[in-house]
Amino acid sequence: MNASLSTAAPWWRPNTGHRLIVRGGRPLVGTYPISGAKNAVLPLMVSALLTPHLVTLRNVPANLDVAVLVALLQRLGCGMHWSASDSGLAVTIAADRVQPRRIDAELVTRMRASVLLFGALLARGGEAALPMPGGDAIGLRGIDFHVTGLRAMGATIELTDGTIRATARDGLRGADILLPQPSVGATENLLLAAVAATGTTTIRNAAREPEIADLATCLIAMGARIAGLGTHVLTIEGGALLGGAVHTVLPDRIEFGTLACAAALTDGELVLPHGRVELLGAAAASFAAAGIDLHDTEDGVVARRAKDGLIGVDLTTAPYPGFATDLQAPMMALLAAAAGTSAITESIFEQRFRHVDELRKMGADIAVRGRTARIRGVGRLHGAAVTCTDVRAAAALVLAGVGAEGETTLDGLDHLDRGYDGMTEKLAACGADIARR
Ligand code: EPU
Repeated sequence: MNASLSTAAPWWRPNTGHRLIVRGGRPLVGTYPISGAKNAVLPLMVSALLTPHLVTLRNVPANLDVAVLVALLQRLGCGMHWSASDSGLAVTIAADRVQPRRIDAELVTRMRASVLLFGALLARGGEAALPMPGGDAIGLRGIDFHVTGLRAMGATIELTDGTIRATARDGLRGADILLPQPSVGATENLLLAAVAATGTTTIRNAAREPEIADLATCLIAMGARIAGLGTHVLTIEGGALLGGAVHTVLPDRIEFGTLACAAALTDGELVLPHGRVELLGAAAASFAAAGIDLHDTEDGVVARRAKDGLIGVDLTTAPYPGFATDLQAPMMALLAAAAGTSAITESIFEQRFRHVDELRKMGADIAVRGRTARIRGVGRLHGAAVTCTDVRAAAALVLAGVGAEGETTLDGLDHLDRGYDGMTEKLAACGADIARR
């Protein structure tokens, strides 16, 4: 699988080892450049399906999810041209000959974000059929909000034998849509569809994650008319003929937050170019309270441990600007080694504590009741053999490993590769004793 992906995405390096060995206890010191955001680039790549003109994305992170989406788009008939420069990887996507029925079912089931193809293909060609998208095993992750919204826009949608089929023979039309929850994916899917629909669409209770404003900014550059960026109400005047665009992908706030935790956990000092504190939302205050010190410099944000050390905090994940669920696991790895107790409540996904058992193998003292994990900081974790269960759990276990005493071995590295561009190499460059075998 990885080998065929490297044909689709020439920069993708098939895994050289299935196990990561980390010998912990060294402070991380150096510069760790923050890549473009995984959760921004995926919908941005899909947006290229809305136009026959060229869409160029810069600052594309070289991760497995991007490679999978590249393969999916190529199969649909998109041309891809890659280039690399000092400002990172760039891709130009040509979707002038899209064949909506050429969906690679196996690839769709590997990645949740492929649900976004649904809105874009429906908008472009009046039909779409996809197997139920896959993704991390972190909860039910229904797509009912997507389906209800697209139906309100005139689509006929059926779910049979695990395949969702949609048609909108006369095209999609604008609608007034109220999301039951501010879902990131539903907001993006409906935004992509609304841009191509006739008339006005209003998405109320829209998610406000920065990646959505990034998508809207690119769509506006393509000629779309969208108001309300960064707010709970997006208004889209559909039907504009979309042209091409050149867009630079937003930096990854989750990678940034994760590495800030790593610097503080190992009592090191990392310069994080392209990291943006204001994109952390409520996590910035939780970080400060827990003893993660962040300050802006000309070279990037500098992250280190505060003078008073790491201290337990209570937090609840919430839609942006609340504490990001994608930072919950890395923060837990840090709090497991802090002084005092912490309580983390996960309010977005119902099964996002699968890293707890793995952290316990490393000596963490964590008790889970319902959606709340109570953590008693133990000062320092110890190395163990652990398994990555989702993208963010993988990052948390790498962090736990670099901060721990002794050797940690990690399996399930596809999860790490899905979400991070060169984490192993970047950490090694900052002094971590880390290698794939
Ligand atoms: N939900 C429904 N029905 C729907 C849509 C969502 O019940 O139709 C529920 C979900 O089950 C979940 C909650 O609403 O409990 C929030 O889901 P949301 O739709 O906001 O999440 P998503 O679009 O599936 C994106 C990110 C996730 C991130 C969440 C929350 C991408 C590709 N994925 O997922 O990222 O955790 O938003 O911020 O953007 C990750 O990167 O590791 C990751 C899981």
